[in-house]
Amino acid sequence: MTGRGQWWQEAVVYQIYPKSFYDSDGDGIGDLQGIIAKLDVLKLLGVDVLWLNPIYASPEVDNGYDISDYRAINPQFGTLADFEQLLGEAHRRGLRVIMDLVVNHTSDQHPWFIASRQSKDNPYRGYYIWRDGRDGRAPNNWGGHFTQSAWSFDAATGQYYLHVFSPQQPDLNWENPAVRREVKELMAWWLERGIDGFRLDAINLIAKAPGLPDNQGAGDFVFAIDHFCNQPHFHTYMQELHRDIFARQEMLTVGECADLTVADAIAISAPARGELNMAFLFEHTDYYNQVGKDPQKLKEILTRWQTGLHGRGWAGLAFNNHDQPRVVSCFGDDTTHRVASAKLFATLLLTLEGTPFLLQGEELGMTNVEYAAIEEYNDVQTVNLYRERVAAGGEPAAVFAAVKAASRDRSRSPYQWSAAPNAGFSTARPWLGVNPNYVEINLERELADPASVFHYYRRLIALRKATPALIYGEFVAQAAPAALFVYRRRDGDDEFEVALNLSDQPVAYTAAGELLLGNYPAPEKTRLQPYEARVLRISNCQLLIANC
Ligand code: NOJ
Repeated sequence: MTGRGQWWQEAVVYQIYPKSFYDSDGDGIGDLQGIIAKLDVLKLLGVDVLWLNPIYASPEVDNGYDISDYRAINPQFGTLADFEQLLGEAHRRGLRVIMDLVVNHTSDQHPWFIASRQSKDNPYRGYYIWRDGRDGRAPNNWGGHFTQSAWSFDAATGQYYLHVFSPQQPDLNWENPAVRREVKELMAWWLERGIDGFRLDAINLIAKAPGLPDNQGAGDFVFAIDHFCNQPHFHTYMQELHRDIFARQEMLTVGECADLTVADAIAISAPARGELNMAFLFEHTDYYNQVGKDPQKLKEILTRWQTGLHGRGWAGLAFNNHDQPRVVSCFGDDTTHRVASAKLFATLLLTLEGTPFLLQGEELGMTNVEYAAIEEYNDVQTVNLYRERVAAGGEPAAVFAAVKAASRDRSRSPYQWSAAPNAGFSTARPWLGVNPNYVEINLERELADPASVFHYYRRLIALRKATPALIYGEFVAQAAPAALFVYRRRDGDDEFEVALNLSDQPVAYTAAGELLLGNYPAPEKTRLQPYEARVLRISNCQLLIANC
């Protein structure tokens, strides 16, 4: 049974993408002093935990997800002293800080890999996954996330190494106890600095299927995660980390785990199994980002997860992150109904069971960005796919249209602080272009407008914190027309109803209780307006009548 009352269950987490948050030294790149300078506004918003995307030393092929020294800060962000100052300033305000730890792979510039590729008998050879080719080709048909093949040939020793992501991100060999020992040592090192937990990147990819068998499917390279995702050893490794590191002190541990079933998520997060506190859920975001905007399907997926995990496991919930488009642009309506739909997804995020994670800028209703030319994109996935497809004969304009439509840069543009040049993010040209809509959408305007998206998030976060039923209550879906998502959260005698109109048309709905919070100034009695959201208290008296 999952208990209640853990701080990480009641916390709201705010994801900071440091490169795009706030530039304090005028080089066009966000930094640690920039985060320190803005802590008060995060406190005002009411969040409890800051998740920092990777800030370690890195050649930045994948914006820090390619670490070359786990115990050093990338100078573009500052120094270890800056980090310690940030931690102290955050803790002084009651904000916790978790680090993003990338241990499925390292950078190819990490000293372990540099040594590993030198010779077959180098002591670090076994830190990575090296194999002979098959008839002059890759050892198996695994496709990569960022390249066609998940293998690269290294002429120095005549073997291939595995990289589920880019060639500059070789996968570590977790079968090697020395690798696991190194990971535990570096985790302990960060915990000694006083951090409050970890977001574990791509963590359910660390165990590969024994023998590295081919993926099923036609074609030269098959991108399927059958053989490198959720393998049984993954759980063994998590239990080892829990026993040796996580159990030492209270902390938040959240796994970035692709392709989970409810049963997998329970296996990861059920306290009795001793693995992680929670895994992120991706089925809903994968669905609407890859398949389509279908309210029925969103309801089905979320209902299945809410009822499946209740009392058995715990989840990290998000509708936005640095790998995904912003939900207001892809499921909401970022033009006519931007404010209402941003508030609707805020309501959904903050009234479900699971720890909510916000991506910086979500609280302003920031939208996806789009750039005019491939040179303006930074995302390694976008750039690699563009190069590979054009080299294979694709027509550049068509390839560009396809890769930009899926680019992760859509949600990575600099934070929009004000209507000043560069959105007030930097005095220099930002590393990634600002969204031109910063003149209308920015924090300064949001703070000044009591009806803004920011103040709505602030009120919702406060409501969630004051309402145990919204954190722990049982989720009960209510019958509703296709476009409406209506559910209740019940905790003992306390009951709340959440009603959301996921369409741009008014839909009939009769309110059942006292309105606590909503995103329209004058809610109607018998219908919900486009993208309207309401949170209502169902009084005990009404419950009694309903039960009679
Ligand atoms: C998942 C991270 O969220 C993503 O940004 C990164 O590219 C991959 N893991 C590889 O580390």
